[in-house]
Amino acid sequence: MTDDLKISVIDHPLVQHKLTLMRMEETGTKDFRELLEEISMLMAYEITRDLPLVDVSINTPVAKCSSKTLNGKKMGLIPILRAGLGMVDGIVKLIPTIKIGHVGMYRDPKTLKPVEYYCKLPTDVAERTLIVIDPMLATGGSAAAALSLLKEKGAKHIIYLCLVSAPEGIRAINEMHPDIKIYTASIDEKLNENGYIVPGLGDAGDRLFGTL
Ligand code: PRP
Ligand code: URA
Repeated sequence: MTDDLKISVIDHPLVQHKLTLMRMEETGTKDFRELLEEISMLMAYEITRDLPLVDVSINTPVAKCSSKTLNGKKMGLIPILRAGLGMVDGIVKLIPTIKIGHVGMYRDPKTLKPVEYYCKLPTDVAERTLIVIDPMLATGGSAAAALSLLKEKGAKHIIYLCLVSAPEGIRAINEMHPDIKIYTASIDEKLNENGYIVPGLGDAGDRLFGTL
């Protein structure tokens, strides 16, 4: 039952096609890395469709006219290390002026609890719309801890973007951070006994960096 989940699924055909390629076990590190960059760009395009615009007056070579521009609200991109790093370049290509903060979080393989090991953020997080990125939302422990940390540092407006999510993780974020809008490319079936998403795509960090 996933009807109770508060999450937006990005079902664009290009996103779904690339996700299928990423899931395949025969997809190697080079292709996995390229696909993650491409899919992140496509997902960022979708999640930014509601960004506010303002009218500006400009001169084209032909005439003066009124045209639209982003209203200048500052943005921040927060990859959760390591695997979130693989989503940075695709998004930066779309939003080149975005500031980047890093949150280091790994999941203890025995307890499945998140362990924080690094945090470096833009100084003005309170004034920015932050996009937190991580390919995998499994138990939700890492995401919940990263979101709490960002709120402690003053962040007020946060969007969470992942590639593959499990119902357990979505529920956890919905409960702990009901104010956070979550986007994903897929809600998978479940977690297995080791906390891996089924069917998922395996260990995203290891596949991205070739540390399998
Ligand atoms: C993975 C993934 C998420 C986390 C998800 O990172 O990138 O951060 O697991 O699991 P959770 O929802 O149960 O917390 P991992 O801990 O493997 O670290 P890595 O990115 O350094 O490989
Ligand atoms: N982290 C991953 O990289 N993959 C999973 O399936 C779960 C957590």
